[in-house]
Amino acid sequence: MTFGVIGLGYVGLPLCIEAAESGALKVIGFDVNKQVVEGVNSGCSHIQDLTDDQVGSLRKRGLIEATCDMSRLAECDAISICVPTPLSKTRDPDVSYISAASDAVAATLCPGQLIVLESTTYPGTTREVLKPKLESNGLVAGEDFYLCFSPERIDPGNKTWTTRNTPKVIGGLTEACGDVGQSFYEQFIDTVVRVSSVEAAELTKILENTFRAVNIGLVNEIALIADRLGVDVWETIEAAATKPFGFMKFTPGPGLGGHCIPVDPHYLSWKMRTLNYKTRFIDLASEINSGMPFFVVDKVREVLNCNRQPLNGSSILILGVAYKKDVNDVRESPALDVIQLLRQDGADVRYHDPYVSKLSWEGGELYSEKLTDELFSWADCVVILTDHSDFDYARIVAQAKALIDTRNAVSGAGIVTEAKDGWIVTS
Ligand SMILES: NC(=O)c1ccc[n+]([C@@H]2O[C@H](COP(=O)([O-])OP(=O)(O)OC[C@H]3O[C@@H](n4cnc5c(N)ncnc54)[C@H](O)[C@@H]3O)[C@@H](O)[C@H]2O)c1
Repeated sequence: MTFGVIGLGYVGLPLCIEAAESGALKVIGFDVNKQVVEGVNSGCSHIQDLTDDQVGSLRKRGLIEATCDMSRLAECDAISICVPTPLSKTRDPDVSYISAASDAVAATLCPGQLIVLESTTYPGTTREVLKPKLESNGLVAGEDFYLCFSPERIDPGNKTWTTRNTPKVIGGLTEACGDVGQSFYEQFIDTVVRVSSVEAAELTKILENTFRAVNIGLVNEIALIADRLGVDVWETIEAAATKPFGFMKFTPGPGLGGHCIPVDPHYLSWKMRTLNYKTRFIDLASEINSGMPFFVVDKVREVLNCNRQPLNGSSILILGVAYKKDVNDVRESPALDVIQLLRQDGADVRYHDPYVSKLSWEGGELYSEKLTDELFSWADCVVILTDHSDFDYARIVAQAKALIDTRNAVSGAGIVTEAKDGWIVTS
């Protein structure tokens, strides 16, 4: 069988590799980005979790290739769509990538093909957006071709749970669609979990991400409460986590990041607004989580104030700008907000991140600096925004004139310090 994957990003390329490594499928990756296609074809991986060796050896064995030529979708027996689903400027769903990919599939759709949408989206997308486009040339879903939704659950940087061993949920437009989709994925995914409809599969993914967004919102609010009470929030969380049942540990931080958690719940909010329903938990969590960068800047102001310094004109060194530890992804990273807020208040900001050499936003850019003794002595305050494993926390504590730790990384690394309220660390 030939398997086509549209979109060779964080989701699509690992899916290609897993399918090709099964040996049961020949994989063609489709992408509009020529550089991505050329990279894969020359045996290079642009995704941190995949090595050049993995891509290169599958290339040599003729099990994988990449192309920008969408007409080759006609060669595929099964096609998964893994394109981005961002928010528009007004924070509404932007399904234009899904629409473009669906148009490409529709243009070459053949009887018997299996089409699966994997991009995270609101319940109703497969039936309301994909189905009409795919049926526009007269073929009928469930009769002439098969249509499913199967959300991707990949967790970049996670070495334990991979595409193969993470159970995969799938729902078909019809019973026959679900049957075909399930047997297809069972060729290279250990556990396939069948649900009764495409909408159930779509909502499952949004539930998972909303669960995280809401719980992070709750623990971030507890952090704000603990701060007012003068209690160390990290100590409280660790103590609560000793309860062997009925409590699940989430940790506060500088805000939400990544392509999923800050974005996906808004897809559901938007959908529910069209049904005259307000998603209160999602809205409240979003309000609290998006306020965290302001809290971090307040902490910087507080620590500088103790040293009789204004934020305006101060030198601030940010450690870690990726949205989470040990990854190079800066999409929606709270570091972007923290840096811009500090600059708006007149601070001179530099950063160091071993995974991110350049950080850009509308109207600005910064480059990662070498972590030298001079950089530490330049900085009036150091702020840990991402708790990368390879940071030397002992050195950071020893050399920072003032230190804000938004991830409890210093204590997590086993370094005992005096911590005023858990965020401001004093050596
Ligand atoms: N990144 C994650 O951790 C993660 C986890 C689970 C689910 N998801 C979901 O998976 C989907 C894809 O996310 P991602 O992180 O892989 O995105 P990405 O930006 O890393 O990759 C998307 C790729 O699709 C390509 N593309 C865009 N439009 C195209 C088109 N019309 N035809 C062909 N290629 C096209 C882009 O060039 C890019 O290479 C999103 O819906 C996301 O919410 C992401």
